[in-house]
Parts: sequence; C-alpha cells; structure tokens
Amino acid sequence: MQEKLKKIREEAMAQIDHAEVLDRLNDVRVSFLGKKGELTQLLKSMKNLAPEERPAFGQMVNETRAQIETHLEKAMKVLEEKALEQQLKAEEIDVTLPAKKNPVGHRHPNTIAREEVERIFIGMGYEVVEGPEIEYDLYNFEKLNIPANHPAKDEQDTFYINKDIVLRTQTSPVQARVMEQGKLPIRMICPGRVFRSDEVDATHSPSFHQIEGLVVDKNITFADLKGTLEQFAKEMFGENTRTKFRPHHFPFTEPSAEVDVSCFKCGGKGCRFCKGSGWIEILGCGMVHPHVFEMCGIDPKEYTGFAFGVGLERIALLKYEIDDMRLLYENDTRFLKQF
Ligand code: DAH
Repeated sequence: MQEKLKKIREEAMAQIDHAEVLDRLNDVRVSFLGKKGELTQLLKSMKNLAPEERPAFGQMVNETRAQIETHLEKAMKVLEEKALEQQLKAEEIDVTLPAKKNPVGHRHPNTIAREEVERIFIGMGYEVVEGPEIEYDLYNFEKLNIPANHPAKDEQDTFYINKDIVLRTQTSPVQARVMEQGKLPIRMICPGRVFRSDEVDATHSPSFHQIEGLVVDKNITFADLKGTLEQFAKEMFGENTRTKFRPHHFPFTEPSAEVDVSCFKCGGKGCRFCKGSGWIEILGCGMVHPHVFEMCGIDPKEYTGFAFGVGLERIALLKYEIDDMRLLYENDTRFLKQF
C-alpha cells in the first residue's frame, strides 16, 4: 500500500511539473484528487486493511493529498502569472503610434452663407420660417400673380408631380402662405431648396437654394426696402459696399427691381470677378403687388410691404470666390474643408 501511495504521489508530482497550461493542471487534479481519482480510490480500499492499520494509512493518504494540493497550487500560480504576462504582452499599447483620427464634419459653404444671412436678418427683427418643397401650383404661381399661360411660367419650368402639384421653383410661395395666416405685421425670411428643370452647368443646377424675405405693415415704402437691402449688403459683403437698384419685372411685385452690389473684389473699378462692370447682381425685389395682397386676404389700402429673393448659392460662390457651382454639390471634403 505504501509503495502504491508513493507511486501515486510521484506520478502526480511529475504530471504537475509537466503541465504547461492551466487546463492541464485541472485534469491532473481531477484524475488524482477527484471523486473518482486515484487517491480517493485508495482511501476506499482501506476497508481491506486490518483495523489497527487503518488510522496510520489514512493519515498517510491525507498527507500525500496535502502534498499534491500544495504542489498543484504553486504550479497554478506560476501558470497564472505566465498567462497574465502573455496577455499583457499581446495587448501592449504603443503610445508612440499615431492616433486614429475621427474625421469631424464641416459646415458646407451653403450652410455658412445661409447662417450668415439669417444672422443679419434676425438682427433686424426678422423671423425665420419654412415652407414645403413640394408645393401647389396655386401657391407657386397663381397666388403670386402668375396665372396659367403667363410667360413667367416658361422661365421657371419645373418638375410636376401632377397638374396641380409641383416641386417649387422659388421660395416666394411661402410669402403667400405666411400672408394667408393673417398675423400682421410680417417680418420674415424663408431659406429653402427650390427646383427647376435646368441643365447642370457652372451656374445652373436643377436643385438649388433661395432665401425669401417679406415685410408687411402699415406705411412700408420703397425707402424701407432700399435701406434694408443696403444694410444687408454692407453686413454681408463689407462696410464699403454700395448698392444699385435696377428696374425689373416680377409678376408679384410692383414696382420691382434687381439689386447689384459694388464688386467687393475691386471696389467697383472693374475686374475679372465682376466682368469689368464693377457691379455684381445679387437679388430680385419689389413692393408686394396689390393683387397678391388681395389673393392672400390682406387689404392693400391698409397695408403695404416689400419682398426679396436671394439665391443662396450665388451668395456662397461670391463670398468664397468659387467659380463653379457644381463644386458645391460634389461633396469632396478636400474642397469643402477650405471654408
Ligand atoms: N422668386 C424670384 C426668382 O426666383 C426672386 C424674387 C424676386 C423674389 C422678387 C421676391 C421678389 O420676393 O420680390 O427669380
């Protein structure tokens, strides 16, 4: 029996010494100390011994068990430390490696220009409103004094959803929508996307943006319109900017004008930027047509007002000296991040 016990102990110790991974140590534990393990079996065979031999034998088995357990624990500690060391090595962080950059977005030149226009008009007490991009023909044309077969409809050919519903060609229909609400006085701007069936080139796109403006109150005159747009031009393009109002025609305003600003590149002397004229056209405007007021439920004898419409891309291209509108839509970050 003693021989057997010694053999078991030596065998267990040898297997523990050879174990290279923790799992293997566990196997050793089970096969020697477990319920069906060799030591346990030996203990069970004690009943074959003479009763007086049993206590001494029992003690020997327990001692052997303790020795194996101590050895196992030591080996386990060593292997655990080794495993941790390997893990740390594998997960080592090289603080000298270049960081992975998270590319942060950038505001689009259109957005920057829109926010600038909004800032200027909010400063003058205007409200910023929105209107639908899919619009009734009624609002896009009829209520703006552009009846069926009016030649202005030709210039603003668009995408028809059906005979009564279009993709709006201008932000002007929002004028009619706001006036119809009947809350007076009105002082609003409305930025938004508009559509026309235009071919893409350096200055045209089937989808672009406008900012509409509308003021309605008692005693509003053309002088208010001029003063407002002059102030806008100065804030947008610089303190020395001069404005010029050229007579023009829009169906929904009377009188109407187009506004030029003195070239902020050459100061008005004439350069490549302003094509030698010293002036750059930036918007259309006028006094709200009495007929438009009537169609929108406002009494033109009591109220007057002015309106204007700015092309947002035009402002962005001018402000950032971009010579091709297509660049604004390509979303090439190398281009966009310059602004
Ligand atoms: N909607 C016009 C266009 O797209 C621009 C415009 C001109 C708007 C005069 C106005 C205005 O409000 O009064 O060409």
